[in-house]
Amino acid sequence: MIVTIDGLAASGKSSVASGVARALKMPYLSSGLLYRAATWAALERGLPLDQAGPLLALLEGWQAAGQPLTLRPLAAGNQVWQGARDLTARLHTPQVDAQVSAAAQLPGVRAWVNDQLRRLQPPFVAEGRDMGTAVFPQAQAKFYLSASPRVRAERRLLERPQDLESVEAALKLRDERDARQSAPARDAVQIDTGSGTLEEIVAQVLRHLP
Ligand code: DC
Repeated sequence: MIVTIDGLAASGKSSVASGVARALKMPYLSSGLLYRAATWAALERGLPLDQAGPLLALLEGWQAAGQPLTLRPLAAGNQVWQGARDLTARLHTPQVDAQVSAAAQLPGVRAWVNDQLRRLQPPFVAEGRDMGTAVFPQAQAKFYLSASPRVRAERRLLERPQDLESVEAALKLRDERDARQSAPARDAVQIDTGSGTLEEIVAQVLRHLP
């Protein structure tokens, strides 16, 4: 079985996907973490993010050297490693937040992420923007999470020491940039995560499963 959970930035996708996956005793995949890792790699190497070529060459080089960028879909929280380096703690910074939409606009980068995800063996819960539309259209159950910019900004503040107004403005900007790949699947169940606790939203998702 494949369950997809898509939605806006800071809509609670990761927490809900992780809760649902735990209840179903299956892993969850954070596709956003792979976009973040690719972005981090480009920033670290000073590569441009208006074209995919140099970044894809770096990723292919790491792969050829036996040190690929790899998603580890652990139940306790997804990680991304490059060879023996755990990059996870470096992927949720304001710098990566600000650049990740640019990397995610590049078709070559999207193809790279999708290829990593499709190599993984179901069952799993896949979380992101286009899991139910582009990557796993065959999924048995699809969900789309949203919440108001203010609710999402308040959540983000718990993770990042910034001020509310600037976090809310950055989220709205990212919504606009991500809009193209963030449309809900036609067959997705839509849930406003501002209207309940995490446990309630997880229970709501579980009730809709076939
Ligand atoms: O879910 P997140 O905020 O960690 O995702 C980071 C960025 O990656 C987000 O701004 C858009 C992009 N992304 C995407 O384009 N497609 C996905 N399936 C997942 C994330």
